Amino acid sequence: MNDNKQVKPANGKLGVLCVGLGAVTSTFITGVLMARKGLAQPVGSLTQLASMRVGKGDQKQYKKINEIVSLSNLNDLVLGAWDIFPDTAYESAIHAEVLKEKDINPVKEELQAIKPMPAVFDHNFVKRLNGTHIKEDKGRWALMEELRTDIRNFKQANGCDRIVVIWAASTEIYVPLNKEVHYSIEALEKAMKSNDKENIAPSMCYAYAAIAEGCPFIMGAPNLCVDTPAMWDFAEKHNVPISGKDFKTGQTMMKTVLAPALKTRMLGLNGWFSTNILGNRDGEVLDDPANFKTKEVSKLSVIETILDGEEYPNLYKNIFHKVRINYYPPRGDDKEGWDNLDIYGWMGYPMQIKVDFLCKDSILAAPLLLDLVLLSDLASRAGKGGIQYWLSFYLKSPMHKLDEKPVHDLFEQFAMLKNAIREMGGYEADQEID
Ligand SMILES: NC(=O)c1ccc[n+]([C@@H]2O[C@H](COP(=O)([O-])OP(=O)(O)OC[C@H]3O[C@@H](n4cnc5c(N)ncnc54)[C@H](O)[C@@H]3O)[C@@H](O)[C@H]2O)c1
Repeated sequence: MNDNKQVKPANGKLGVLCVGLGAVTSTFITGVLMARKGLAQPVGSLTQLASMRVGKGDQKQYKKINEIVSLSNLNDLVLGAWDIFPDTAYESAIHAEVLKEKDINPVKEELQAIKPMPAVFDHNFVKRLNGTHIKEDKGRWALMEELRTDIRNFKQANGCDRIVVIWAASTEIYVPLNKEVHYSIEALEKAMKSNDKENIAPSMCYAYAAIAEGCPFIMGAPNLCVDTPAMWDFAEKHNVPISGKDFKTGQTMMKTVLAPALKTRMLGLNGWFSTNILGNRDGEVLDDPANFKTKEVSKLSVIETILDGEEYPNLYKNIFHKVRINYYPPRGDDKEGWDNLDIYGWMGYPMQIKVDFLCKDSILAAPLLLDLVLLSDLASRAGKGGIQYWLSFYLKSPMHKLDEKPVHDLFEQFAMLKNAIREMGGYEADQEID
């Protein structure tokens, strides 16, 4: 292990508080509990499986990430959640039908012990859900204070050294960035205190509470939430890492691999049509156009940013990009995503690429939660507050300031991730190709 004094070691217990105990969270928690018993492999998780290079030339070495930086061990994670339904993690895992009972039952008792805390919820933000396990509405500010108390109580009751809060709850309706409310901490606090139910989404109460308690916050849905100038400033002021938005799992992950391939070869693109069928609760929520709008905005920016129509107008100026998600209950969590790319080559001759990705949404998302949690905790121990650009690798719509451009290319994001880890491990960042 490298002796980097700037990063505090991951001693003690790390509390992981998940907002939402649905398909993704129950799959994540079950996998962590199974992996620590040696009964399952944490496939898809870089922090658990990947080796990476540090040093150059004669100094070159390949090490596991937790040999480069100090990361919490799975045995030291204490898992908790909030949800609008009172189901335990066990009931939620059974209900989600992502995992087979044989992969849930060995950790049944531990899952049953994970009972969600009552949620901060506003039906206007997710009309398709009618939960009962909800905190009494005393206004946005008071609700945020209750969440702070929840975090403190959880930390104390479980003897945790540190806490990370991660949003894996439903996608809220689209909330536009409002200059009057979301541009300064003062304006945001004023709106929360005056109970502005239009501009202050429930997710903002969770994010504010987490940051105020010094806990890294990760936004796994496309909600505006922590992606506002007010929250960026708030996180910087408290030196708390924040990241988001929207886990990059299936179709968008493929997009951020294919689009750079077209650009590298200077092949043209006329149109990209993406459609999905999905039958889980997430699919049901996204069937409401107001909630889908939030997802659509998150999914659309990807190829335009990578392909850069300003730089290459002949190849990418007028791309017709359409994204659809169709709620189709028979498929449950087994999403199928189809992509049709209308590309063109030498002398403008047209060609097509078809992708049919039969994936399991929560199986792809679970390792991302694990890595984001462990790496956000690392960032916190390394004193890195504010937006964590290096975690864009895991996110569909990476947060960035208003005058900055996001990096979407998966391999550029991977280089950023590795360099941040190298630096926190006391090695130099570099541009070498491994
Ligand atoms: N699975 C993926 O591949 C993937 C990828 C990117 C983003 N996401 C996002 O992750 C989120 C979770 O997905 P899922 O499949 O687990 O959905 P899910 O519907 O199974 O679970 C979401 C849970 O959040 C709860 N919830 C809703 N509002 C809440 C609130 N205000 N406070 C606390 N709990 C609340 C719901 O009751 C539900 O149990 C969704 O927003 C989804 O869009 C998933």
